[in-house]
Amino acid sequence: MLAGAQWQCENKHSYDRAKAGYVNLLLANQKRSPEPGDSKEMIAARRAFLEAGHYQPLVNALAELIREHHFKPTLALFDAGCGEGYYLGKLVTLLSEPELAINAAGSDISKAAIEKAAKKYPHCQFAIASNFNLPVLNESQDVVLQVFAPGSAEETHRILTDGGLWLHVSPAEEHLAQLKAALYESPQQHSVDAELPTGFEEIKSTRLQFHFCLPELQIRRDLLLMTPYNWSVAEDALDSVLASMSEVGADFSVRVLRKCPKSEE
Ligand SMILES: C[S@@+](CC[C@H](N)C(=O)[O-])C[C@H]1O[C@@H](n2cnc3c(N)ncnc32)[C@H](O)[C@@H]1O
Repeated sequence: MLAGAQWQCENKHSYDRAKAGYVNLLLANQKRSPEPGDSKEMIAARRAFLEAGHYQPLVNALAELIREHHFKPTLALFDAGCGEGYYLGKLVTLLSEPELAINAAGSDISKAAIEKAAKKYPHCQFAIASNFNLPVLNESQDVVLQVFAPGSAEETHRILTDGGLWLHVSPAEEHLAQLKAALYESPQQHSVDAELPTGFEEIKSTRLQFHFCLPELQIRRDLLLMTPYNWSVAEDALDSVLASMSEVGADFSVRVLRKCPKSEE
């Protein structure tokens, strides 16, 4: 369990971190495949694409939302399905100021992702774990971030403090539309889930849209490889798909949900 800045078992023993700086809390019987989650290749592609800064507007928007809605002098920030750690690492940098003590941690079901995250962001805690069984104490986190990862509203509710925030980012209707148009004859738009999970109130729901240029073929390959669309590309269609990606549109749905204090439930 994540308890403050340390991982502990239920008997309050500290948990050993691997030399690489993370703990593996995914039991063999919780795995549906030998290597669950994103593969090493997908994670390397995601790292290369994100480090190029194309999704920086999203990180800036998330930092702004936390500044707007979190007022305590301490911040326990948890990234559920954190991938290679980009959003968590960047948010710690953007939010750092002398008056705010940040305790940042993240988990992902992919070992390759957590290995990479722990190496690059040694000031954050990382664990290999499922979002459906988060290794985090009840009511211990002020903000839970979930970007393009599957998850459980019940688990998020369990680990948030009363009044804690859940920042939920998912693809909106036009996300990577150019890529989808090159791949499918009748591309389906993403549909955004507007349902309100039990025990939360929605304090904001916004859409963040912007375009970015990808002049180099390699970064287009990285973007393709980090998405599930990669599996839909026939070998003889790859060149034309990559050619369609010189300018791409991002479209994010960002929901800010607040855990209702017990007295209001
Ligand atoms: C699209 S990636 C997003 C990663 C990161 N949030 C980002 O935006 O860069 C989805 C991530 O969810 C992870 N994932 C998939 N199923 C999961 C689960 N059941 N529990 C935790 N993580 C999971 C994958 O390994 C992958 O890293």
